[in-house]
Amino acid sequence: MTPLSRLRCIGCDRDYRLDEIRYECDACGNILEVVHDLDRLKALRGGAEWRALFDGRLAARDGIHRSGVWRYHELVLPDLPAAAIVSKPEGNTNLYRLPALERLAGSAEVRVKHEGENPTLSFKDRGMSAGVSWGRHLGARAVACASTGDTSAAMASYAAQVEGMKGLVVLPKGKVSLEQLSQPIASGCLTASLPTDFDECIRLLREVCRRRPLYLLNSVNSVRIEGQKSIAFELAQQLGWSPPDWVVVPVGNAGNISAIGKGFAEMRALGIIDRVPRLLGAQAAAAAPLARASEEGYKSRVRVRAGDTAASAIRIGDPVSYDKAVRAVRDVGGTFVAATEQEILDAKALVDAAGVYICPNSATAVAGFLKARQRGLIDAASRVAIIATAHGCKFSQTTIDYHTGTIPGVAPGHANRVVEIEASASAIERLLPGGGEP
Ligand code: F0G
Repeated sequence: MTPLSRLRCIGCDRDYRLDEIRYECDACGNILEVVHDLDRLKALRGGAEWRALFDGRLAARDGIHRSGVWRYHELVLPDLPAAAIVSKPEGNTNLYRLPALERLAGSAEVRVKHEGENPTLSFKDRGMSAGVSWGRHLGARAVACASTGDTSAAMASYAAQVEGMKGLVVLPKGKVSLEQLSQPIASGCLTASLPTDFDECIRLLREVCRRRPLYLLNSVNSVRIEGQKSIAFELAQQLGWSPPDWVVVPVGNAGNISAIGKGFAEMRALGIIDRVPRLLGAQAAAAAPLARASEEGYKSRVRVRAGDTAASAIRIGDPVSYDKAVRAVRDVGGTFVAATEQEILDAKALVDAAGVYICPNSATAVAGFLKARQRGLIDAASRVAIIATAHGCKFSQTTIDYHTGTIPGVAPGHANRVVEIEASASAIERLLPGGGEP
């Protein structure tokens, strides 16, 4: 049987087998993407039949179809045998309607899809389930990634599920949160901390992977993108297969926004949905090469040295999936924006206080959305879905620092301080004015 999927260079269209381990094109050095034989997939089922198949699987009690990635197995990695799948399961994250954000933005319908509700508390579990499963299928014994914290947490945890699979993670020293750092250590991964930034970490690791038999699981490995695009599938399914008008995504290495764009494009090609949302990529102003490129009309590739930001997981100056992201966003008439530290942290406090606890990276998307509303890029009637990428519990220090007003240059507009009181019932009661509620 001819495989249903291949690797294709995004620069010169050269094709490679998917079961080859490769991350770039021999001919032009560009990155690759997985392409599926959409004609064969179309011949298999029509749009309504695909929808019915996936809806039927929502009732699965066990097995791979319980996963929010593998429910869509045939569209994620159709050539991967079910027996090779490493799943926790992941996905099935909540989609919250946020009236407080709707009021502030003057928007009709705003939802947050909380990918922080994944097993290792970030969206990375989706791509890692695909990447580790494919690696296992190819017989990889050791996996590796450079990370700003979440990729490494996910990789370490999925590799730990595979008997005999070893992992190496390479992290920029002092630039990942304590909770993120604890995750690969807990999972038994070889954890290296380098006195440099993420851009350098990934450059060095790619060099090592050329010489050593390590299966590289950064998003330069396009198999990961296939897992991540299930965010688009699941979002569409949660909305009864009626996609929102805009999807807002925080952007660092730019793999996720490319994946989400690919997911929607493939669903439309297969007749599963009839239109695709526009994409808004949000970056922290301290690390915003794509937002700058969009302002400059994408006339040349922008690389920056990433500066300090509370959104440390997207502190990336030279995104690996730059070209894929620009293509995904331009194809649907979307754009990129940048948000300041004040905007990011206020947006976080607002969403957190609505009972949806998000990380500063996710808050960058919320702040980007508010900016796009102010500028009139997104109109009031648009149905908007914001992708929150990791849980607030991964960044507790940032939350506490904001509420105590100790982040330099940031005014804690929504501060909720801890009250230190003596250990007595009356001291507690004195906190309740007039005997009422707190
Ligand atoms: N949000 C969070 C919480 C992330 O961890 C990342 C990326 C992003 C957004 C951006 O996604 O890179 O696909 O554009 N974290 C990577 C890591 C770089 O190593 O964990 P992207």
